[in-house]
Amino acid sequence: MIILGIETSCDETAVALLRAQDGTFVLEKNLVSSQIDIHAPYGGVVPEVAAREHIKTLPFLLKKILGDTRPDAIAVTAGPGLITSLLIGVQTAKTLASAWGIPLVRVNHIEAHLLTNWLENPHLAFPTLGLIVSGGHTELVLIKNIGEYDLLGRTRDDAVGECFDKVAQLLGLGYPGGPEISQHALQGDALAIILPRPMIHADNFEFSFSGLKTAVLYLSPEQKKRTADVCAAFQKAVIDVLISKTLKATRMYDVRSIVFGGGVMANTALRTEMQKMIETQLPQCAYQFPGPNACTDNATMVAVAGYFHIQKKDTISWQQLDGDPNWEIEQVNY
Ligand code: KG4
Ligand code: ZN
Repeated sequence: MIILGIETSCDETAVALLRAQDGTFVLEKNLVSSQIDIHAPYGGVVPEVAAREHIKTLPFLLKKILGDTRPDAIAVTAGPGLITSLLIGVQTAKTLASAWGIPLVRVNHIEAHLLTNWLENPHLAFPTLGLIVSGGHTELVLIKNIGEYDLLGRTRDDAVGECFDKVAQLLGLGYPGGPEISQHALQGDALAIILPRPMIHADNFEFSFSGLKTAVLYLSPEQKKRTADVCAAFQKAVIDVLISKTLKATRMYDVRSIVFGGGVMANTALRTEMQKMIETQLPQCAYQFPGPNACTDNATMVAVAGYFHIQKKDTISWQQLDGDPNWEIEQVNY
């Protein structure tokens, strides 16, 4: 079957066509239109601008990707995300599904980030631990099976990506901050400046990153001028926290595999150190990273998640589908 994926939860307009059969996937086409340049002057995503861009872009992407293809089902991100952005994808999916009379699947964005790893590696053993680190989310999820999720912990304030973006802004670097900081960090000394590792020893799987951002803000003007050292120290503080919590959760829940997702997982230093930690401390544990381009928002991941829902006959009528900006991963159950 061919599944059309649609993703408009934040500032990427994305569509994909995925051929799926008996648990094997062939990605036919994948298109992503990023709005980064449009939001860059504001240092972050402006919701109304994002929605207007989705309205402009989505019909062009659909025309380009579909040609004469008529998919067998549509999977669309229904939440969490910016409600004005979500509704563009949701409304488009409803219209196409009703006109074509094909099944419609309501996909949770966090679940899509997690399940995209099964595109690369269909044999990951359960239970699996998932770490999602993006501009809007920082979550550790226990995946007991496909469709069965427990949220172990999330950030109490800023998401990691948001923290990268805000620290970059206060250092006078460009947007998005993640790639800028990681680039400057290559020339810096992570030990030259001391920054906190918030909640690293807390007896839970929650995160907090706003204090780390404030610690950078309160560095002396002389320290702040050493951009490369600040970037390296900041990036190292984030990596230490993420690695420590991932290790602790893996041991506590006795998981057999670990998967990752979200834009911050495109960070090379984070990938390298996480991989090193797993191979040295958790040698029995399988792991899977999406490719750097599959870490950021895309519609292939939505189509993959859609396939698993269809397998369990979890579809929704177009009359019932709606966007839900606060849809929690724990509420997904099928
Ligand atoms: O998943 P994503 O594309 O969108 C959201 O759903 O938020 O993630 C975007 C976030 C931004 O905050 C950006 O700064 C961060 O991912 N990011 C990175 C890197 N590339 C993107 N953070 C750290 N290192 C990177 N190389
Ligand atoms: Zn995302």
